[in-house]
Amino acid sequence: MNTPDLLGDIEPMPPLPPAAQERLHRFHRDIQSLAPSLVGYPVSQDYECPELTPFLGFSLNNVGDPFADSFYRENTFAFEREVIEFFQEHLRAPPGETWGYMTGGGTEGNLYGLFLARELFPDGMVYFSEHTHYSAAKVVRVLGARSIMIRGTRGRRNGLRRSPGNPAAPSRCAADHPRQHRHHHAWGGG
Ligand SMILES: Cc1ncc(COP(=O)(O)O)c(C=O)c1O
Repeated sequence: MNTPDLLGDIEPMPPLPPAAQERLHRFHRDIQSLAPSLVGYPVSQDYECPELTPFLGFSLNNVGDPFADSFYRENTFAFEREVIEFFQEHLRAPPGETWGYMTGGGTEGNLYGLFLARELFPDGMVYFSEHTHYSAAKVVRVLGARSIMIRGTRGRRNGLRRSPGNPAAPSRCAADHPRQHRHHHAWGGG
């Protein structure tokens, strides 16, 4: 039986129109001239990852649990598991009893962390500094979680103690980290 040539009639992607190419070139040139004078906040421009560039030619997809099989073969689960193992080791989280995944970014990390906290402590109060990333305020709204923003705590060691919150409510706490623009989050109840 002959297999029909299903792809025969499909036109290949046309090349980028010259004006669009020129625009991208200009943008690249502008970024190249700007990057060296960025001091490194909020992110460093001082890195190269040519080894990863070839992978931009593929649509990789990591949907789902990195410890399970994926229906999508073009995934990077093996690398993802290694990253999680790294954190398991450093957080002394027993492998096999703890789980994790790489989020698509910081906001999703905050969302998932606070989601788990809300599942564990549905009546808990979220305390977060006004200086923490603005996604914290958005996330508590999305989750409908009770929250208190602590104002003016920068530089004070015990800012959370000054909170007017309900002391009986279990707390979930968004804590700043001084290293990379003060954004490290620790979630805990108690
Ligand atoms: C703590 C924290 N949360 C959220 C974000 C936002 O990250 P994204 O833009 O990847 O969602 C950042 C960005 O730096 C961050 O540091």
